[in-house]
Amino acid sequence: MACFYRLGWFILLMAAVNIEAQKKPPRNISSKCLGNIMRVDVGPLGGKLLEVAVVINNSSILITPRLASQCGFSMKTDQRGNTVIYVSLHNCFAHNVDDSFTTTLNLRLKGNRMAEDELHQVAETCRYATWSSREIVCERNYMEVSVKRAAPDDYAVPAHPLLGVNPTLDPRRGAEKKPMDAGFRITSIVFFTPEEKVMTVAEAQRSGYGIVSTPSRLVLRGPHTTSETYTHNVAGVPMTVLQTSTIFEKKWLATQINAAVACPTVKGSVHFTPNTITWFLPRHIDPLVSAGQLKLSEVHVGVDGERLDATEMAARRYSLSVNDIYVILEIPVGATGGYFKSHIQDDQYFTSYMIEPMLELLWTEDSTHEDTRYKVLFPIATPLMPRPAQVIDNTVPGERIFKVLIGPFGSDVALVNVSFPSEVLSVTDCSARGFNVLEHTSPNSSLKVFTLDVPFMDPVVQQTTVKGMAVFSLQLTLGLLVLPEFAPFSHTANLEATLVDIVAPSVSGGCDHENFYVLVQYGSEGFNFQTIVGKQTLTPSLAHLYGFKDNDTHFSLVVPFSAADTVFEAVESSSIRSRVDVTLKNPETNGNIQEFSLSCKFPLTLTECFPNGTITVLAVKLESVPNLKPSELTLSDPSCGPSYSDDRHAYFIFTGNSCGTTRRFFSNVMLYENEIALPDDLQTSQDSETEEPEYELKISCYYEIYTTRAVTFNPRPRRSEPYAENAKGELQVAMRIALDDSYSSFHRSEDYPIAKYLQQPLYIEIELMRSPNPQVSLELENCWATLNDDRTSKPRWNLIIDGCANLVDPYQVVFHPVWVDARVPYPSHFKRFEVQMFAFAEDQDNLNRQLFVHCDVAICDDRNGGVCNGQCSNQQNRIKGQRRAVSDAHSYRHVSSGPIKRN
Ligand SMILES: *[C@@H]1O[C@H](CO)[C@@H](O)[C@H](O)[C@H]1NC(C)=O
Ligand SMILES: *[C@@H]1O[C@H](CO)[C@@H](O)[C@H](O)[C@H]1NC(C)=O
Ligand SMILES: *[C@@H]1O[C@H](CO)[C@@H](O)[C@H](O)[C@H]1NC(C)=O
Ligand SMILES: *[C@@H]1O[C@H](CO)[C@@H](O)[C@H](O)[C@H]1NC(C)=O
Ligand SMILES: *[C@@H]1O[C@H](CO)[C@@H](O)[C@H](O)[C@H]1NC(C)=O
Ligand SMILES: *[C@@H]1O[C@H](CO)[C@@H](O)[C@H](O)[C@H]1NC(C)=O
Ligand SMILES: *[C@@H]1O[C@H](CO)[C@@H](O)[C@H](O)[C@H]1NC(C)=O
Repeated sequence: MACFYRLGWFILLMAAVNIEAQKKPPRNISSKCLGNIMRVDVGPLGGKLLEVAVVINNSSILITPRLASQCGFSMKTDQRGNTVIYVSLHNCFAHNVDDSFTTTLNLRLKGNRMAEDELHQVAETCRYATWSSREIVCERNYMEVSVKRAAPDDYAVPAHPLLGVNPTLDPRRGAEKKPMDAGFRITSIVFFTPEEKVMTVAEAQRSGYGIVSTPSRLVLRGPHTTSETYTHNVAGVPMTVLQTSTIFEKKWLATQINAAVACPTVKGSVHFTPNTITWFLPRHIDPLVSAGQLKLSEVHVGVDGERLDATEMAARRYSLSVNDIYVILEIPVGATGGYFKSHIQDDQYFTSYMIEPMLELLWTEDSTHEDTRYKVLFPIATPLMPRPAQVIDNTVPGERIFKVLIGPFGSDVALVNVSFPSEVLSVTDCSARGFNVLEHTSPNSSLKVFTLDVPFMDPVVQQTTVKGMAVFSLQLTLGLLVLPEFAPFSHTANLEATLVDIVAPSVSGGCDHENFYVLVQYGSEGFNFQTIVGKQTLTPSLAHLYGFKDNDTHFSLVVPFSAADTVFEAVESSSIRSRVDVTLKNPETNGNIQEFSLSCKFPLTLTECFPNGTITVLAVKLESVPNLKPSELTLSDPSCGPSYSDDRHAYFIFTGNSCGTTRRFFSNVMLYENEIALPDDLQTSQDSETEEPEYELKISCYYEIYTTRAVTFNPRPRRSEPYAENAKGELQVAMRIALDDSYSSFHRSEDYPIAKYLQQPLYIEIELMRSPNPQVSLELENCWATLNDDRTSKPRWNLIIDGCANLVDPYQVVFHPVWVDARVPYPSHFKRFEVQMFAFAEDQDNLNRQLFVHCDVAICDDRNGGVCNGQCSNQQNRIKGQRRAVSDAHSYRHVSSGPIKRN
C-alpha cells in the first residue's frame, strides 16, 4: 500500500458511506484491467454530475483534478454521458499485495437538489506481474514512469554535496514496509529542465508530483506541464519531457535512480485531413531511447486503453505502419471507436470527431535484458468541421406526402420541435399529427438523420395553382439542441412539389366542303408525342403541306379531302365520303396515345353527262378495295380503260355510243348506262387471294330534253358489308301496340281496330324479326301518323323525324329503353316509344275516324357507326336540321300499324 501522510491540500470527504442496495437505481457500471491501468465504465450519466472518490480505511477521498494528475486518475465523458475512469495500478491509494493492485472507488451521481444522490462502489483487483524494467504511461492529464529499483548496493555512490540532501526527510512507508534495501531512503529528486533543480519529496509533492517507492519499483508521476518539464523536439514531434534522478541515501552511501518520461503533444504529432487522422509517434524517443540502443519489439494499437487485434483494426479501417522514424496510425474520421461532437457557432453547425487511440510500444535491449513499455492514451479531436445538414427531398408527388430527410447530425443532437410558418409543434405534437418523425442512426458511425412525413393536405402545407397545376410548398425549421450543453440551433428546409394531373393530348376536328380541319391540343406533358396522319409520320415537310400552325397549347392542320393521307370510304351520286385518321404516338414506347378519325361527305361530281353525249367519270379507289389498281379498271367494254389514272383515281371519258354503253328509252328520257369494273380475268384472280369486294360502279345518265342528270352511283359491296346481302327480303320488321308501358302484352292482330281515348297513351314497339345477329340494330328514322293505311297519304302528322321526337308536337313521343328479358334477347333489335292518342286538327268533326302509325326504320351494322349511333343521339344536330349521314351499310324497311280508333 502506498499513500501520502501530509496531504493538507487533499479534500477529505468523510461522508458516511451509505450504500443501500435496494435504493440504488440500475446503472451500468463495469470495470476491467488493461495491463498497467484499470478502467471503470459508467453508463450514461443522464445529466448528473459524477464525483469520484477513492476509498481507503473506510474513508473516501474526493479526486480533484490536481489529485487526479498527481495520483494517477483520469476521466472522460463522451457526448452521450458515458464516462470512463482510468486508474493507474500504481495510483496513490492502491492496495498492492504481490503485484495484485486493489482500488476501491466511490461514485456519487449528483442530480438536482430534489433528488437524492446516487452512490455506487466499485472495487477492482488487477494483477499485473509482467512489469518491464521501465513502464511509461502518457495519460490525458498525467505522465507516469515506473522503474525497477536496481539493488542500490550494486551501484552506490556518495551523496553529491551539491544535491542539498535533507537528512530529516520523513520515511516513506513503502520503503519501510518491505525493506528489501531497507537502509535506502529517498533524500531528494533532481529534475533536469534540462538545468538541474533539486527538490525534497515534500517539495515535489507540493508541486503536484506523485512519488511512490515500493520495494521493487520507483514510480514518479506528474502533470504534463510544470515548471520542471521541457519540450523536446523528437523527429519533428514536440514532446514534453520530465527527466529526473532520485537520490537514495543509506548512512554514508547514496545511490540514484534515473527516471524520465516523454509524452507527445497533439500539436505537431497529428495531421488532419477531412477524412483521415494521422498520428506520428517517433520510433526512437530521445531521451528515453536512442537509436541503436533499444529495438522496437512490439507495437499495439488500442482505443480507450484497450488493445485491438488485427481483425478488429481492419474492420474499423485503422491502419498502422512503422518506418525508421515513426510509428504511424491512420484512423478514418468517423470510424468506430470515436464519435462526433457537435458545436454551434452563429447558429452554424460544426462537428469535431473525437477519439482516444492508444499506442503501446515495447523496446528491448538484448545485452542487458532491460525493456521499456511505453503506452500513450492520446485524446484527439479534429478541428471543427462545418457540416451543414443536407435536406433530401424524397417526396413522390403522387403519394401526396412530403417526405424529407435532414442530416446528418452527431448523436449528441436532439430534436426539440418543428416550426412551420403558422405554428410550432413539439416532436410529440408532430407524431400526434401523423408526421411520423423518426431518428435514424447509421450502424457504423455515430451520425444520425431525422425524417419527417407531412401530408399535402395538412394545414401547414401551402397550396397554390400555377398553370393549372397544384403546387404544394412546405417550410419547416427543425429546432435542435446539442447535448449536454443544451446549445440550441435550427435548420430550415423549403420543399415544393407539383402535382400534375396527367392529361393526354386530344384531337378534334371538323370539315368544310373541301378540307378536314384537325386541331390537336397538347396534354399536360406538352408537345411530346409523334403525330401520324393516315399512315405517315408528320414530318416538317408534311406539316408544311398541311398548313401546320401552332401555339403553346395546340397545333392545327388543314388536310384536303383528297390528300394522299386520306382514304375514300364511299361514293354517292354527287359526293364522296373521305376520312382522315390522326394517331398520336408515344415516341418512346411507340404506343398509341390517341386515335382519331374524322369522316365527312364532300360534294364532288364524279359523273358528268354533257349534252354533246360525252360522259366523264372519275372512279376512285375505296378503302374497302385496298388492292385495286385503278389503271386496271375498264368500262363494260374491257378495251375502254381510263384516259388518266394514278394510284387512287381513274378518269374515264367516253361517249354514249361507245365502250359498251347501253341506252334505254322511257317516255321523256333516255337512259345511258355503263359500269366500271375490273375485267373478268383480273376480278377472279384478285378475289381468290384477297377476299376484297368486287368493284363495280354503275353509271347512269338520264338525258331529258336539253337537260342531263347523274342519278345513281354505287359501288356494290360484297363480303365486307353483309347487311346489304342479307337484305334480300329476309329481314322483317313488325310493329305492335302494347297494353301498358311494361311492354309485356300486346294487342293481337284480331283486336284491330283497337280503340283509345284522346290523350290515352299508345305504347308502340318495333321489332327486327328473326335476326340472330346482335350487332345488327334497328333505328327509327321517321315515324308519322295518317288517317288511312296508305303511308303516303295526306294529311300526315310527324311523330319522329330523323330519329328524334318531332319538336313541334305538343305531345312529344317518349322513347322507352329496352332491356334484355325472356322475349328480348337483343335489345338493339327493338325500339319502343309512347305517344298520346290525338286527333288531326282538320278532323275535329269526325270523331270516329281511325289513324295509322307508320315508320321508316334503318337496319344497321353496329360496327359501322354513323346512323347507327343510337336513337336520336344528337338532338342538337337534328334541331339545326342537319340530316343524318346515310351510308350504304344499312338497309331500310317500312312498317305500319293496324288501325287505331279514337273513342
Ligand atoms: C453495459 O455496458 C457494457 C459495456 O460497456 C455494454 O456491453 C452493455 O450493453 C451495457 N448494458 C446496458 C444495459 O447498458
Ligand atoms: C489505513 O489502515 C491501516 C491499518 O488498517 C493503517 O496502517 C493506515 O495508516 C491507514 N491509512 C490511512 C490513510 O488512514
Ligand atoms: C472499517 O469499518 C468496518 C465496519 O464499519 C470495520 O469492521 C473495519 O475494521 C474498519 N476498517 C478500518 C481499517 O478502520
Ligand atoms: C458505413 O457503412 C457504409 C455501408 O455499409 C459505408 O459505405 C460507409 O463508408 C461506412 N462508414 C464508415 C464511417 O465506416
Ligand atoms: C424550439 O426548439 C428550440 C431548441 O432548438 C428552442 O430554442 C425554441 O425556443 C423552441 N421553440 C418553441 C416555440 O418552443
Ligand atoms: C392556341 O390555339 C388554340 C386553337 O386555335 C386556341 O384555342 C388557344 O386559345 C390558343 N392559345 C393561345 C395561348 O394562343
Ligand atoms: C363535248 O363537250 C365537252 C364540254 O363542253 C367538251 O369538253 C368535249 O370536248 C365535247 N366533246 C366533243 C366530242 O365535242
